[in-house]
Amino acid sequence: MKIVAAAALLHLCFSATAAVSGSGSTETALAAAPGDIALLPCYTVGNVTPSFTTWMKNGLEVAASLPPAGRRLAVQHDGSLAIREVMPGDEGSYLCSSTLPGNSTFQARVLLQVTGGPGNVSTSISPTTALSNGTLVAPRGSSVSFKCSVSSYPSQNLTWAFRGASSSNQSLAFTSESWLDFRIEDLQPSDQGVYICRAVNTVSLNTSTDRRQLLVYYVPDRHPDCMWASAQDPSRVQFSCSWLGAYPVPELRWGQGGGFQVTDSLSVTLNRSLLSDGETVRCTARHPLLGPGQEKSCSFTLNLPFPEGEPLVTALEATSVTLTCAEATSVPPANTTWRKGLQQDNVVAGSKYVLSEEGPILKLTILNISKDDEGVYFCRSENPLGVRELEVYLTVKTASSAYTGAIIGVFIAALIVGLAVIVAKNVYSSRHRICLGDGFGQMDEDRGDVLSLVESDDEQLFQDAVPRLPPITNGCHTTLVQIHRIPSSDYEDAETADLSPQQQEDTVQTEEPEDLVTF
Ligand SMILES: *[C@@H]1O[C@H](CO)[C@@H](O)[C@H](O)[C@H]1NC(C)=O
Ligand SMILES: *[C@@H]1O[C@H](CO)[C@@H](O)[C@H](O)[C@H]1NC(C)=O
Ligand SMILES: *[C@@H]1O[C@H](CO)[C@@H](O)[C@H](O)[C@H]1NC(C)=O
Ligand SMILES: *[C@@H]1O[C@H](CO)[C@@H](O)[C@H](O)[C@H]1NC(C)=O
Repeated sequence: MKIVAAAALLHLCFSATAAVSGSGSTETALAAAPGDIALLPCYTVGNVTPSFTTWMKNGLEVAASLPPAGRRLAVQHDGSLAIREVMPGDEGSYLCSSTLPGNSTFQARVLLQVTGGPGNVSTSISPTTALSNGTLVAPRGSSVSFKCSVSSYPSQNLTWAFRGASSSNQSLAFTSESWLDFRIEDLQPSDQGVYICRAVNTVSLNTSTDRRQLLVYYVPDRHPDCMWASAQDPSRVQFSCSWLGAYPVPELRWGQGGGFQVTDSLSVTLNRSLLSDGETVRCTARHPLLGPGQEKSCSFTLNLPFPEGEPLVTALEATSVTLTCAEATSVPPANTTWRKGLQQDNVVAGSKYVLSEEGPILKLTILNISKDDEGVYFCRSENPLGVRELEVYLTVKTASSAYTGAIIGVFIAALIVGLAVIVAKNVYSSRHRICLGDGFGQMDEDRGDVLSLVESDDEQLFQDAVPRLPPITNGCHTTLVQIHRIPSSDYEDAETADLSPQQQEDTVQTEEPEDLVTF
């Protein structure tokens, strides 16, 4: 129970000044800590040495002059009582009675209190990690135990208090025992602050405190966001990376070479000479809560533009045509435009050109085509890596070339009709040898074989019908073969809408009236 410091040979604490009561007695209050040497004064009013002194405690004699050597309580030469090593239990009311020279007596009362501590409060907050300055750190969501202990004699009040951003001094726990623990489950940023354990000796009012700063670290679950922004100059690009919602502020880095910077959003501007096709650009985030190898990152792989589409387009004069170009692979996204001619003049939307965009597909519609529109068009795609172009050659056909196509169509149709006639004739001449059974008789009447003749120009679609045999009755006596065209409504809709009067004439020629061949 030796609490007093070794250097303090004599520790006297007068918590109340001596008060003279009457003519021949004083009362003094005195506090001593266990282990101290306490000196209880007796005759302090005069300068006379008492000839004999006895000390009583709570009515019992505890010491008298001329004691045997080596006792813990001893009356000193001047009548005071020395307690060599104060112990718990020494507290009480002491009365000294001194006989002064001349046989007068003197009495003095001393109230001794024994109080000890609190010593140094010992605290622990765990599990946490300590920074170099002693501040403790715990991650958000963790469970943390707070422990505090210290002992005082005869009793103490022990408290845990918290000072944070939102509370100036919040009391968290209280006890009169010598230890005080509590626990925070699911630690939150609002729990960040200073935790103070304070012990007060209820008698001496001596206090001891320990304060610990606790930081609550957290990181977002998400990865950083990688973004790009196009610069004024198409050969430059700004990459930005942000990772918001981490505490403390994370460190970000673009690429491998540069160092990390303490920031939650970082941008770099790169030019064409620093970028290459297929390169992966990565932003890495570092944070104290992420161990080595657990860094979070986002990235994208750079790709040159690659405009795709039909390189050869044919259109008929006075119609309109739509050129299409798909740009789906470029990273960062390309700026794609239509250009015309070898000078690559910008195509400007207006009464001649209609520009439209459907997702990755860019369309250029040229209205009322004339021979002047024939030539090369470019779908030009540029991103910070470079420029790629799709070359589209537009051929404009005049009405006469369409006419040639129609003639060929008619010729082939006539050839097929002729063939059908020959087949029909053969069938007829051998009718006594072959009798068509049920299978043939049930031939589906709605199904006609249609031959489509498609020119290189998509818009020019010629359809003609192959004559077919009508259903033959079971009796095999039919002698009539009918050959006729299938009227095609699709064909008429498609052709008549777009064609010039001259062309409509052409189609009329192909539209043969129902042929009736009678044998
Ligand atoms: C200890 O360091 C941390 C991080 O550098 C800082 O936030 C905190 O305020 C410091 N604490 C003290 C008591 O200096
Ligand atoms: C100790 O706590 C008790 C009970 O709350 C209170 O009455 C007393 O005043 C406290 N003593 C000190 C010294 O704080
Ligand atoms: C591209 O950037 C590098 C480094 O910043 C610089 O040395 C170079 O001159 C730049 N080139 C162009 C074309 O801007
Ligand atoms: C189509 O172009 C011709 C000349 O190329 C012009 O005479 C005609 O008015 C144009 N038609 C329309 C509908 O713009």
